[in-house]
Amino acid sequence: MQEFLNHLQNEVDKLHAARTYKVEVALQGPQDHEVTVDGHPVVMLTSNNYLGLANHPRVRGAAVAAIEQWGAGMGSVRFICGTQLLHKELEKLISEFYETDDTILYSSCWSANEAVFATLTGGYDAIVSDELNHASIIDGIRLSKAERYVYKHNNMGDLESKLAQARQEGARFILVISDGVFSMEGELAPLADIVDICERYEAVLIVDDSHATGILGPRGRGTAEELGLWGKVPIHTGTLGKAMGSAMGGYVTGPKPVVEMLRQRSRPYLFSNSLPPAVVGAAIEAFKMVMEDPSRTHKVQENARYFRQRMTRSGFRIPHGIHPIVPVIVGDTALALAMGKDLLERGVYVSGFGYPVVPQGHARLRAQISAAHSQEELDRAVEAFVEVAHAHHVL
Ligand SMILES: Cc1ncc(COP(=O)(O)O)c(C=O)c1O
Repeated sequence: MQEFLNHLQNEVDKLHAARTYKVEVALQGPQDHEVTVDGHPVVMLTSNNYLGLANHPRVRGAAVAAIEQWGAGMGSVRFICGTQLLHKELEKLISEFYETDDTILYSSCWSANEAVFATLTGGYDAIVSDELNHASIIDGIRLSKAERYVYKHNNMGDLESKLAQARQEGARFILVISDGVFSMEGELAPLADIVDICERYEAVLIVDDSHATGILGPRGRGTAEELGLWGKVPIHTGTLGKAMGSAMGGYVTGPKPVVEMLRQRSRPYLFSNSLPPAVVGAAIEAFKMVMEDPSRTHKVQENARYFRQRMTRSGFRIPHGIHPIVPVIVGDTALALAMGKDLLERGVYVSGFGYPVVPQGHARLRAQISAAHSQEELDRAVEAFVEVAHAHHVL
């Protein structure tokens, strides 16, 4: 035993030495556009609370009301006795949102991505995946017996050649999977080309729209709507942990046989507890709010535009885009982490990311903008960025 613990401690020590040990900052209150850290108010610029619903009175109220009416927990998986009318209501609402046949809930989008590939494919099939897809997709694909093909990030020539290879090698069915929005860049997948290529190779497209649902498109329906491809993506996976209330939970939405098969066979659904009523109630309210009134979606889009423009005009290197994920590239990992620390001291909470999360030399601070931010908060954040960048000779 001691030898085992020594080995683990050794590994942890290496993380400290490499300065990649992750420290958790405990918030002294709810998640919001401004939070309290170490007794000080700071502008929150690193949360997935894109629509500002995490602490919204309607969403909080719905969570409390759900506990009052439906209790605190289920004590069961869905198919034994863990399904309430509430779960059915949320699944129906998400299907209405996407205009799909049906939806199945999971305890996270991680679980949804873990479920989808192993359940829907077998040894004769192929899965073709973007190299920068989310870790849950990578792990989910590993659980499938299908042949794996990984194409270069957003490279349509490579996608096509991998599809041709899969067809030539006799794949029965081919699934193509891409993030709708890539979370380190705030960059959209070229869905028009992906849809076209999938049609030509008779491949089934799945898009994980975790960073786009509620955020992109005129009605917040995500990447496909943003790019004028509404109805062209047959299967979506998504999360309830980001824009749509920010609590937790995930889903797969699409054609009836897909969802039916997942309900019958997917292991994270069959062998893991169903979502608690408070979480389901909060998500129902979040979907209703976005469907009733897209103004929060428009606000996060407008705030992202404003922040991107101000940062670019201040001289920062921001990759071109529209998404509220705004990467500020500074190059060196230690520099990104040091700047993050200084920004926190100046009242702005933003995370630094370096190698191996992003390629060597592309370390960055990743700002995430919310509909709940005021223009004054965004201005304050830009000013803090400028001050810290000058102090570190980045500007
Ligand atoms: C693209 C993508 N898919 C899936 C997930 C996992 O979502 P969840 O927190 O619901 O497990 C994330 C979260 O970071 C994500 O960015």
